[in-house]
Amino acid sequence: MNVVVGITGGIAAYKAVGVVRALVLAGHEVHVVPTEAALRFVGRPTLEAISRNPVHVDLYEGVAEVRHVAIGQAADLIVIAPATANTIAKLANGLADDLLGNTVLASEAPLVIAPAMHTEMWRNPATQANVSTLAERGVTIVGPAVGQLTGADSGPGRMEEPEVIVRAALAAVGGRAEDSAGRRDAAQGDLAGRRIVVSAGGTREPLDPVRFLGNRSSGKQGVAIAEAARARGAEVTLVAANLEIGEPGGCDIRRVSTALELREAMQTAAAGADAVIMAAAVADYRPAAISEAKIKKEPGDAGLTLELVRNPDILAELGHAPHDGTLLVGFAAETENDPERLLALARAKREAKGADLLVVNRVGWTEGFASDENRVSVIGAGGVVVAELHGSKLSVADGILDVIAEALTDHPASEDTHAR
Ligand code: CTP
Repeated sequence: MNVVVGITGGIAAYKAVGVVRALVLAGHEVHVVPTEAALRFVGRPTLEAISRNPVHVDLYEGVAEVRHVAIGQAADLIVIAPATANTIAKLANGLADDLLGNTVLASEAPLVIAPAMHTEMWRNPATQANVSTLAERGVTIVGPAVGQLTGADSGPGRMEEPEVIVRAALAAVGGRAEDSAGRRDAAQGDLAGRRIVVSAGGTREPLDPVRFLGNRSSGKQGVAIAEAARARGAEVTLVAANLEIGEPGGCDIRRVSTALELREAMQTAAAGADAVIMAAAVADYRPAAISEAKIKKEPGDAGLTLELVRNPDILAELGHAPHDGTLLVGFAAETENDPERLLALARAKREAKGADLLVVNRVGWTEGFASDENRVSVIGAGGVVVAELHGSKLSVADGILDVIAEALTDHPASEDTHAR
């Protein structure tokens, strides 16, 4: 996808580098259009190096190639981060006194802005009116977040984190494709016409009305896969188990909590899907009985023994049932340090569960779960490592989807396939 990242003159401009980098790593062609003021905060060489493209600012450069409209016309998505109060006012009024203003006016692509300013400026009725005008026109407004601002003050006005902005921007493209076409458009991406089911998060097994047995999965990697698949044109069902992050746009979300609920939702959603991706961390055991009342300490007791029973292995059940035409992708989170032994565990898990692909990563007390980065190996038929991926969870998601898209090329995506 051809993405324009507009950067305007605020301190948060340094964080825009993270937005550009995440989009490039996710495989998008990125053109940065900073305002003159933005270049006081972040240098052009940095933006050129990170975006891997030349960076233009001046409206009167490249006139022969009609650059002031060409960049906007070619864009599939425009993201402005940070968007200052001044830029928001200009956008609301359709002003085009610089290259970024012209680019936006000349484009029909979805526009996503991430406001960043001091709380007073954000709350000013003029800014609020301008933001409402933009929202009514269909512009996606991401943030601002509430938190520490540049000075000693804090409140709403902080630019959202790059990962959140990128996620919202890609969802805006997915949502728009569906709205305008009313159905999937084959030109939207390499997964158009595919139905993909993703589970994400971690299950919780209740012990009593106030307690549960759970795990540390935040759902970030599974949500990133759902978002990336949506952005590549797939119809996505996300089976969400207790996500610690926001739900992505444009997906059919089925919320579950326990392993048994997850199993039921997966079995329903998986029927006839092109790919099923089990990224959720599932509790292998649940309490044998759930106490109706809060479990109380007994005076003088030395401890408490819980009786647990096995949960079904959802992936293995899907893998061992007939699933013609559905690619099954499992995950394995292992604490094994030795890379070869880690791969051996993953190969054995792939076989045991009947998965086509198995994505393995190392986890530990500080690695894996809530982090924004990931490092994984993807194991395919015969235990062969078909991909080694690392980077943001969004770029790892795209790498996993590359492998899936390649594997699916043998399976035709007919209307029949996804209508089942
Ligand atoms: N999984 C599942 N049902 C379970 C447990 C795991 O579907 N009851 C799935 C996970 O979603 C993941 C894969 O199986 O895709 C591997 O999960 P993992 O927890 O690494 O493996 P376990 O089977 O639980 O094996 P271990 O004994 O190593 O915990």
